Amino acid sequence: MCSLARKKVIIAKLRTLKVALNLAPLTKGGLFIHNNDMDKWINDKLYSRLSKFDELTVLDLGCGEGFNSIGLAKLGAKVTALDKKAIMIECVRELAHKERVEVLAKVSTIQDFQSNVQYDIVLFTFVLHFLPSEIQAQIVQKVIDLVKTGGILVFADLEDDSPVSQERLSVFKNSLENVEIERFTIEDKPHRGADYPHQHKVFYLMGTKNRIL
Ligand SMILES: C[S@@+](CC[C@H](N)C(=O)[O-])C[C@H]1O[C@@H](n2cnc3c(N)ncnc32)[C@H](O)[C@@H]1O
Repeated sequence: MCSLARKKVIIAKLRTLKVALNLAPLTKGGLFIHNNDMDKWINDKLYSRLSKFDELTVLDLGCGEGFNSIGLAKLGAKVTALDKKAIMIECVRELAHKERVEVLAKVSTIQDFQSNVQYDIVLFTFVLHFLPSEIQAQIVQKVIDLVKTGGILVFADLEDDSPVSQERLSVFKNSLENVEIERFTIEDKPHRGADYPHQHKVFYLMGTKNRIL
């Protein structure tokens, strides 16, 4: 199969999966990270700021197919989305076009991304475990540096029970010193679409930088 046809098949599969999971950002706008309490908390916070939403800037690091980028762009935010995979960025651009929103979508690793501005909301969801453990603390610090004072950090990732993994958790918790953590939860989640039934612990962290909004 030529690469374009292959890409189309992958994009179609991703869409089918997202439709099957019934994710809301594409239909009504908003942010959804698969944890009902967190989703409610963050969306309430965002909607309470809706009147000035179009002034808000969002950075979605490791955006994947970009459902959150598009969900927030639908509310009027100025969204920059980046992912290291060109096919993901292609998917974001295509969906943004279909949904009639603008998203500045770039192919880049988080490691290579440079910015001379900070953002009101930074999303860093389900990406950390892809990064080598020796650079994780440094990347978390970089992510926090990209949040404006008073801005929101949304951080989630897989976790498991091994002592090494618990150590990793404390490493980046320490680097969150200047983030006022408003919610931190760890819960068991089934791994959808896995070859064998298993589950992960997933942590969700939401906070504001330096002060509560
Ligand atoms: C599991 S998906 C998460 C997508 C989205 N953030 C979400 O919460 O649904 C992880 C994404 O991170 C991207 N990614 C992994 N390592 C990355 C890196 N170093 N820089 C940028 N993107 C990365 C992958 O290509 C993939 O699209």
